[in-house]
Amino acid sequence: MHARHRAHFLSALGEDAALIFTHAHHLRNGDAEYRFRGSSDVLYLSGWAQAECALLFRPGADAPFVMFVQARDPKMEVWTGRRPGPEGAMERFGADEAFPWEELADKLPSLLQGYRNLHYRFAEDMDRDRMLVGAIAKARRAARRNGLAVPDAFFDPGRILHELRLVKSSEELDLMQKAADITAEAHCRAMKLTAPGVHEYALEAEIEGHFRRSGGNGPGYTTIVGGGVNATILHYIENQDVLNDGDLVCVDAGCEYGFYTADVTRTWPVSGRFNEDQKALYQVVLDAQIAAIDCVRVGRPVKDVHDVATRVLTEGMVRLGLLEGDAEDPAHIAQLIDDEAHKRFYMHGTSHWLGLDVHDVGAYHQEGESRVLEAGMVLTIEPGLYVAPDDEEAPIAYRGIGIRIEDDVAVTAEGPRVLTSAVPKTVEAVEAMVAGA
Ligand code: GLY
Ligand code: MN
Ligand code: MN
Repeated sequence: MHARHRAHFLSALGEDAALIFTHAHHLRNGDAEYRFRGSSDVLYLSGWAQAECALLFRPGADAPFVMFVQARDPKMEVWTGRRPGPEGAMERFGADEAFPWEELADKLPSLLQGYRNLHYRFAEDMDRDRMLVGAIAKARRAARRNGLAVPDAFFDPGRILHELRLVKSSEELDLMQKAADITAEAHCRAMKLTAPGVHEYALEAEIEGHFRRSGGNGPGYTTIVGGGVNATILHYIENQDVLNDGDLVCVDAGCEYGFYTADVTRTWPVSGRFNEDQKALYQVVLDAQIAAIDCVRVGRPVKDVHDVATRVLTEGMVRLGLLEGDAEDPAHIAQLIDDEAHKRFYMHGTSHWLGLDVHDVGAYHQEGESRVLEAGMVLTIEPGLYVAPDDEEAPIAYRGIGIRIEDDVAVTAEGPRVLTSAVPKTVEAVEAMVAGA
């Protein structure tokens, strides 16, 4: 898979070189480490998951794929773990040449010579930028003697690389399906565990425990478990409170498997039964989600997903008295949306690309127009409604309720393929799962 990704990247580079780094590794404090999670660009091109790694692409050279990685160091490996080293980079990761990380600044000037254009991401890490500027200066001095080209035009590698990452291969889709399947099981387990008196963190533990015991890396983003009014805070990650009878709980959690992540939200009643008001709001969100999923078709602009979800949600808000007017009057609904009246209860987008990153890379517009969907793209569909507890204009029954429903959907020639369809979603299916069916 990585060899094919590299082949596509090399061919898209044409005659240009590219230099791609993994993230810097930050300590948590003192000698305590965070588990390192490499940059998705490096993972996409090489599968290399360790810190201190640079990938250099030199199209047309005898060794077009060069890796700089941590050297083997038996003393350090006792403390921080095994290192494949440059030897492993060549034997197992497909490098044509590989060198110790410490040699990057020395080797780079000559390796960059012969290329006019370099794809490198400036302004992300000033130390790296300084190192590269020094390497270019050295290469220029050498050029006075040897006359070889030195890069004098720089491009963000994402222009090419992030476009490649946006369209998933069947192997990538298999990994995403696996991440989705584990996530679906985890949500079902959390639903079954739910009862009044259970804490938000108990659901988080159940979900993340399932991710790890299933071979996932863990969550692809920080798990959200918001009971009651906590569900109206979009990125509530404290997960500390107790779940109360009569409330809903909104859970947004996705497993990362093979470095690809799922991103799933469900909202369910703590007691196992929606009351009539909760059910009415929930059904509006579900109708919006189903209508938006139906827009996930080859050739449709991605913006349709948000437009359709927003329209169905706004009609529902009017019907339920959250907004004023006639729900059956399309001109009135369009005016409310124009005036952004819906943003009081629906303040986020409906969708984002999904892949190695939860908010994955790839442009949403091309030449000023909404991008058209292609087979192999994967996106989330995640409408919601959030009624602030202190919104005194809103009907009292809806205050303090937050509902989001989120699935992961692949674009295929046959229509939308919902990777996360195994997670219950209808009122009846959700109630049955919470009841332990
Ligand atoms: N879990 C982050 C999001 O839904 O975008
Ligand atoms: Mn999402
Ligand atoms: Mn989410």
